[in-house]
Amino acid sequence: MTFPYNDIVLEHFKNPRNVGSMEKPDGKSTEGSPACGDMVSVYIKVDPDTKIITDISFESYGCASNIATGSIITEMAKGKTLEEAKKITWKEASQALGGLPAIKAHCSVLAVEGLRGAITNYEEKHGLSASREATTVEVVRKKLKKVMNPMMGLDLVTTNLVKEIEVKEGVVHLLIELPENHQFSAVIKEEVKEKIEHLWDVKNVIIDFVG
Ligand code: FES
Repeated sequence: MTFPYNDIVLEHFKNPRNVGSMEKPDGKSTEGSPACGDMVSVYIKVDPDTKIITDISFESYGCASNIATGSIITEMAKGKTLEEAKKITWKEASQALGGLPAIKAHCSVLAVEGLRGAITNYEEKHGLSASREATTVEVVRKKLKKVMNPMMGLDLVTTNLVKEIEVKEGVVHLLIELPENHQFSAVIKEEVKEKIEHLWDVKNVIIDFVG
């Protein structure tokens, strides 16, 4: 069988670097691609003084391009400061792999978004200046756009599952239109909490299911 990939991509696909989850990461993120519904998780450890990424790993639930890009971005980001790592683009990652087929650009975008998401997660947890915006309904809505509705392969907001968002004195209250005992309710709850709970000014997240 002939693969549409060059040798570097194939090598990273077959022997991905820094693969797997991480115990007690300082920052982590799971991002989904609206283009294909695949997902990637990125975990980082950060030196609190220098803000250098000292360790990084990823898990991909995507295709060969995504695995190869996940592998290469972990190599590119390790040893860089958060600010430097934020600037890594999907084009640079793709170039470092010797190029990906055009139809596969979104797979490298997904991997880079995973890295940026893990950095943002770290910054939000530590209240770093860039992320010190107050949590508003709009901020929550933006976060919920990153949580997949597993029944549709699109996010919770686009699929109209979120009926109400209220933010009051550090408490985020959500109404989700799904029976509490639905097979996906627990996983949705967990993912929503993961995206919002750590925000610096959020004290509690209450999720009610209706339907
Ligand atoms: Fe989904 Fe590549 S096709 S990540």
